[in-house]
Amino acid sequence: MGIFATLHNEHVLIQRHLELLKRASNRVVDNKPVPREFFENVIAFARMFNDKHHHYKEELLLFAYMAQKYEGRLDATLEKLRSQHEMARDHINGVADMLNAYERGESDPTRQLGLHLSEFIRLMEVHLFSEDMVFFRMAKEMLSEEEQDALQKAFTKYEQKQGENPTVICTRMLDQCERMLEIA
Ligand SMILES: [Fe+2]
Ligand SMILES: [Fe+2]
Repeated sequence: MGIFATLHNEHVLIQRHLELLKRASNRVVDNKPVPREFFENVIAFARMFNDKHHHYKEELLLFAYMAQKYEGRLDATLEKLRSQHEMARDHINGVADMLNAYERGESDPTRQLGLHLSEFIRLMEVHLFSEDMVFFRMAKEMLSEEEQDALQKAFTKYEQKQGENPTVICTRMLDQCERMLEIA
C-alpha cells in the first residue's frame, strides 16, 4: 500500500471516532449521561491513534520531507495543517481537564466539555477533508514514485517501533465505546 492510501485508511478510522464523538456530544447537549470510561477511551484513541500514529507520520515524515524539498514554498500550507493538529490536541486536553467536574454534574464544566467536543469534531472534519481532497492529491503529484516508496519505508520503520499494531488496539477501543453508548 502506498503512503497516501495508508493515510486515507487511517482517516476512515478517525471518521469512526468522530461519529462516536458526535453521538456523545448530542447526549451531553441533551443532558443525557455519557460514561466516564467512554471519554477516557476516546481521549486515549485521539492521543494514540491520531497523534502518535497518524499525525506523527504526516508531520515528521511527509510534511518534513516536502518542506525540505520545496524550500519554504509550502510553509503556509504545512503550517496550517500542523496547527490544526495542535488545536485538535488542545481540545482533547480540554475534554480531559473537564472530566472530573463533568462527572460531578457541574454545569459550567459540562458546557465547556461540550464545546471542546463540538470544536474538535468540526476542526477534524475540515482537516480530514482538506488533506484527502486537496493536500494528499497535490503531494501525490509533487512526489516521485521513488520518493513515495522511500517515505513508505520510513512509515513502516516507524510503525514497527510502536510494538503492537495501534490500528488493532484502537479499533478495539472504538468497539468498546460503541457498546458503552448502546447501554448508557
Ligand atoms: Fe493531518
Ligand atoms: Fe491526516
